[in-house]
Formats: sequence, C-alpha cells, structure tokens
Amino acid sequence: MRTYVVTGGAGFIGSNYIHYMFKKYGDEIRIINVDKLTYAGNLENLKDVEDRSNYTFVKADICDTEAINKIFEENDVDRVVHFAAESHVDRSIKDPGVFARTNVLGTLTMLAAAKAAWELPDGTFKEEKKFLHVSTDEVYGSLSNPDDYFYETTPYDPHSPYSASKASSDFMVKAFMDTYRFPANITNCSNNYGPYQFPEKLIPLMINNALHGKALPVYGDGKNIRDWLYVEDHCKGIDLVQEKGRLFETYNIGGHNERENIQIVKTIISTLREELSDSDPRKEHITEDLIKYVEDRKGHDRRYAIAPDKIKAEVGWYPETTFEVGIKKTIRWYFDHQEWMEHVTSGDYQKYYEDMYANK
Ligand code: NAD
Ligand code: DAU
Repeated sequence: MRTYVVTGGAGFIGSNYIHYMFKKYGDEIRIINVDKLTYAGNLENLKDVEDRSNYTFVKADICDTEAINKIFEENDVDRVVHFAAESHVDRSIKDPGVFARTNVLGTLTMLAAAKAAWELPDGTFKEEKKFLHVSTDEVYGSLSNPDDYFYETTPYDPHSPYSASKASSDFMVKAFMDTYRFPANITNCSNNYGPYQFPEKLIPLMINNALHGKALPVYGDGKNIRDWLYVEDHCKGIDLVQEKGRLFETYNIGGHNERENIQIVKTIISTLREELSDSDPRKEHITEDLIKYVEDRKGHDRRYAIAPDKIKAEVGWYPETTFEVGIKKTIRWYFDHQEWMEHVTSGDYQKYYEDMYANK
C-alpha cells in the first residue's frame, strides 16, 4: 500500500485532492494529511473521509523540522504532494513575511525531511519515492501580447510577494533535483475554482456577496485575464504527473479557458439567476447593479494563460470540465453547503473583509 504525505490537505485544492485520490484508489493508498490549520485550513472539508482507516490527520507546521522529521521516521512515506502554502495575493501585499516563511522555508523543511528519509548511503534515492511540489502560473509574471502563453521554458518573472515566494520555493525544489538528483516534479497551475474554496478568492467571494445582496468589488477596469480550471482537473493532473510524468520535469497545468474578471462576475450573476427559483427573495437583488469597480490591486498582473501542450503530450492530461459546466457545479455546491460558508465567514473573516474592502 502506497503511503502519501499530503501537506495543506485541509485547504481548498488539498482537500479536493484527498477526495479525488480516495475516489480513484480507495483502500489501495494511505494518506497522511499534514496541515497547520491556518485561517485557510478547515477540517470540515474532510468530514467525508475522516473515519477512513487509511486516512490520518496530523496538525503540524511545515516549518517545524522536528514534527515533520517525526512523520517521516514513523512512516514509510512513498509520495509527498506538497500543497501547504500561504496562497492569497492580496494578503501577501499586506503581510509578505509569513509568505516567505511558509512558502520558502516550509518547502525547504519538507524537502530536507524527505531527502533524509529517502537517501541511500551512496547518495542515490530509494526506488519509487517521489515528491511533487504544487506551484502556480504566477511565477511566470504577466503576459502582454495576446498570442503569448506560459510554457515550462518561460523565464520566471514574479511580481507579488506571493508569486516571489512561490518562485523561490520552486527554485529550492529545482536546487534539490539538480544538486542531489532528488526525485521530484514541479507543477505550475492556473487559477482553480470549485468546492471548498475560501471566500477571499474571486469566485466564492462573488457568489457569497451576491447571495447576500452585497456589492461585487471588481478591481481596476475588470479586464485582467485569468485562465480558469475546475479543481478536480488540477487534482487529476497532479496524480498523472506523479505517476506517468518524467522525474525532474516541470509540467504546466491549465485549460485554455481565459476570461476577463468582469466576464466571470457577469457569468456568476446570470448563473445564480438561472439556478434560483423565481420565488426566492434573493433573486430580485442579484443583478449587474451589484457590480462595483474599486481601486486596483497593487502590481496587478494583467494576463495569465497556460500552454498545456507538454502535460497533454506526455501524460495524456486534458481538462474534462468546461467552464459552463464547472461554474454551475460550483454554484450548486455553494447552495448545498451554506452552513460551510457560514462557518468559514464567521469570526476572523469579517475583520479580514473590513480591512481589505472598507476603503476601496
Ligand atoms: P489554501 O490557502 O486554500 O490552503 C492552504 C492550506 O495550507 C491550508 O489548509 C492551510 O492551513 C495550510 N497551511 C498554510 N500554512 C501552513 C503551514 N505553515 N504548515 C502547514 N500547513 C499550512 O490554498 P489552495 O488554494 O488550496 O492552494 C494550495 C497550493 O496550490 C498552494 O501551494 C498554491 O500556491 C497552489 N496553487 C493554487 C492555485 C489556486 O488557484 N488556488 C493555483 C495554482 C497553484
Ligand atoms: O494563477 C494561480 C493563482 O490563482 C494561485 O497561485 C493563487 O493561489 C490563487 O489565489 C489565484 O491568484 P489570483 O490573484 O489570480 O486569484 P484571486 O481570486 O485573488 O483573483 C482573481 C482575479 O480577480 C484577479 O485578477 C484579482 C481579481 N479580484 C479578486 C478579488 C478577490 C477582483 O477583481 N476582486 C476581488 O475582490
């Protein structure tokens, strides 16, 4: 039975990945979820799997060398899938320090612990041990020419403290591969959306605000472009890269689904209107009048767009969920999980929202 250490498994993509893996492999694998449970980590995301005998949760900080080493000492770990990170660009603009700590030093702690556990006396590594570092397309910077795309060979050009910290963590993984031949891969993915996403990010924030009749804050002119991918497609890509990809390689994951932010917001409004019954009192308020253009994000990257040619050619990955289907599924999920939304938006979220949007 293969043993996985998944870091950040209580967050948005990590929890979707754990669900995906149990759906795909059932009892053939064991997952140890290592998460510090920051504001973004939520064990409610994993209620469906918490009683499985092949699932374990360990509350630990990835910067805590002792705690991380202990996990590797007590378990014969075969795979590491490293999601844990500070992930929100706006927060990184306000407080870059924690991004450097978690994203850079935390990644180094994970690499060093896996290396210590997997390295043989002659400097080679035990067979079939693999580390996958989950990264982002933001490391490549911003595209200005509409015909350009991010390829694995595109030079790094991060702009925000978040993307700079992810770029640094990618370089640390690369350094381990180049220096020690440490068995790893890096994936750089575009914007994800789907169930369990924390409502600080564009899509769940807009859904939640619209349902409460609150303004929909669009940064700048609303024409910044992101390349949206349904989260389950990302999870599938990670698994395919780890099992079928070539070691030491980077794979870009994204689905040629570029949209301006304002298009996303308008699609959310029209889809919510379609999905709500005519007798639902919320429907009346959900119109484009809710859109409010606000001060732009500092250093706001204009366009991201992934060329997924390599992952398609080498491991046969393609995005299965179209945006039209994915956004409907996502909205229905938020309808069916209103309690989840209430829980994550109580307490600290209110303060965050005030700080972030009050003066915009
Ligand atoms: P998230 O913010 O929803 O979840 C992050 C998780 O990491 C949380 O459960 C949190 O508790 C945990 N965590 C944070 N600091 C930790 C620490 N010091 N020790 C242990 N656990 C810690 O993030 P997400 O959106 O699920 O992103 C997951 C990964 O995917 C990140 O590495 C991110 O850079 C990358 N990524 C995200 C997207 C996206 O669109 N969300 C796209 C591409 C890549
Ligand atoms: O590209 C991958 C990245 O996507 C990941 O690495 C990050 O972890 C993830 O957070 C995401 O980063 P973005 O900055 O692109 O996502 P966010 O949802 O914060 O914003 C998407 C776009 O919407 C961006 O252009 C800013 C804009 N926006 C965002 C918010 C929260 C608004 O216009 N209004 C908002 O209130």
